[in-house]
Amino acid sequence: MPQDPLRDHLDYFQELGVEGMHPDAVWRARAEAATVGRGVSRAEQDREPVGGPEAPPYEVIPVSAVRTADADTLAIIKVDIGPDCSRCKLHTLGRKQVVFGVGNPNADLMFVGEAPGADEDIQGEPFVGRAGQLLTKIIEAINLRREDVYIANVIKCRPPQNRNPEPDEVEQCEPFLFRQIDVIKPKVIVALGKFAAQSLLKTTEPITRIRGREYRYRDAILMPTYHPAYLLRNPSSKREVWEDMKRVRDLLGGAASRA
Ligand code: URA
Repeated sequence: MPQDPLRDHLDYFQELGVEGMHPDAVWRARAEAATVGRGVSRAEQDREPVGGPEAPPYEVIPVSAVRTADADTLAIIKVDIGPDCSRCKLHTLGRKQVVFGVGNPNADLMFVGEAPGADEDIQGEPFVGRAGQLLTKIIEAINLRREDVYIANVIKCRPPQNRNPEPDEVEQCEPFLFRQIDVIKPKVIVALGKFAAQSLLKTTEPITRIRGREYRYRDAILMPTYHPAYLLRNPSSKREVWEDMKRVRDLLGGAASRA
C-alpha cells in the first residue's frame, strides 16, 4: 500500500514529542514567526561564555597549523587514515572497515557520535542502523535532509561488542575528527550522547548536566544532546532532544549549508 507522506511526517514529529502540529499554513507561519529573531548572530555567539556560569571548563584545541581547508580536503584525510588503518588495536579486534563520515563537506551542521556499530561496520557509513534512522528523523524534524549535514564519529572503527572506545583508541583517532571539523567548518556541532560529548569537551560532567548547553568549540558552537540509541530505550527523553534541536535550528538561522 502506498505510504502517506504527510502521515509519516506527523508521526515522526509526534515521536519526537512535538506538540501542536497543524496542517493550516497560517498557523504554521505564526509558529515560525514566533521563532524569528531568536537566531544568534556570529557577534553574539562570540561572546563568552555561552555555556552559562556553571559550564565545565574545557580545552580548546588549536586548529592544526599544518594544513587547513583549501588543501586539506576530506578526501585527503580519508586517504591519510587509509582503508586498513592499524594505529590502534581495533584493527585486530574484528572491525570490518574504517567508517570515515558522510554528508555535505560544506555543512553548517555536523553530528558527532561515538563509534560505528555493527550496521555501520558492515555498510561503511555512520548512523545507518536503528539509531541512525532515528537520527535521520531528528534531522528532518528541523527541515534539513540527511545529505545537508555531515555525520561522523569520534572513533572510526567498531569496538568489539560495542564497548566504549578506550583512551588510547581515542587518542589515535580523534585527530582525524578534528581535521574533519576544521575542513567542514560547521556553525554548529551536535555531540550525540555521553561519550562523544565528554570526549570532545574533555570533561567528566554527566550528559544530563551538559546536554542542551552551548560551548565554543573550534570556531563552532557545540551542543551535547542525548544519543539516538538512548532515545530508543528512553523515548520520554525525545522531548529534550527536540528542545535542543529547535535551539540548533535557531543557531543555524535557517542556513542548511554554504554549498
Ligand atoms: N552509534 C554511534 O555513536 N555512531 C554510529 O555511527 C552508530 C551508532
